[in-house]
Amino acid sequence: MAVSLEGEKVILVPYMKEHVPKYHQWMQNPFLLQTTASEPLTLEQEYQMHLSWCQDPLKKTFIVLDKDMVEGKFVHGDPRVEAMVGDVNLYMNDLDNPQLAEVEIMIAEPQSRGKGLAKESVLMMMAYAVENFGIHIFRSKIGESNGASLSLFRKLGFEDTSYSEVFKEVTLEFPVTNAKWEELLHLIGNVVRHT
Ligand SMILES: CC(C)(COP(=O)(O)OP(=O)(O)OC[C@H]1O[C@@H](n2cnc3c(N)ncnc32)[C@H](O)[C@@H]1OP(=O)(O)O)[C@@H](O)C(=O)NCCC(=O)NCCS
Repeated sequence: MAVSLEGEKVILVPYMKEHVPKYHQWMQNPFLLQTTASEPLTLEQEYQMHLSWCQDPLKKTFIVLDKDMVEGKFVHGDPRVEAMVGDVNLYMNDLDNPQLAEVEIMIAEPQSRGKGLAKESVLMMMAYAVENFGIHIFRSKIGESNGASLSLFRKLGFEDTSYSEVFKEVTLEFPVTNAKWEELLHLIGNVVRHT
């Protein structure tokens, strides 16, 4: 099984089948469907989607655990469904540039928002992507009305590169050559790898 990564506020764990029912429940929420540009699935389809994500070498998904909700000692391989609050994804799906990755983040549980979990999860995912897949540029596509997410990525140093009238969506990018990269790395303290 892939690694789990423990930061100061979150533990990123591999997306396991035990997580699917709660994930499926989140993805019935119209707000989350809209902000993540997703379609509602049946539970059976969600299990199929989980399998296809796990098998896709170009896609990496971690479930975000809120450490405030993790009781006792965390052991790699534990799904810890009670502490799962969102997910963070990486897609290396640009055929012209294999070193480009799209990042997506969702903190689905309202009580875990506004605590810096999205920020830490995105940064940990970016550092993981640079180290493990040699990613040089990150991209994020955000609906123009999603102020929280736009402000999250802009604050991290992502810059607007284009806007789609059709999808009402802003594309933002962050090249790892950006002088801000080293600063960002300092924002995430020691990340513990559990294997
Ligand atoms: C957007 C989202 C990921 C933010 O998660 P979060 O854990 O609450 O965010 P953080 O606490 O890490 O906040 C980091 C930064 O994001 C911005 N931000 C977060 N929530 C915000 C809000 N409600 N309004 C404005 N800015 C906000 C701020 O710039 C914040 O920095 P600051 O605290 O220094 O001001 C979360 O609200 C969410 O999942 N929304 C629905 C799904 C979604 O929109 N996903 C993005 C598609 S890629």
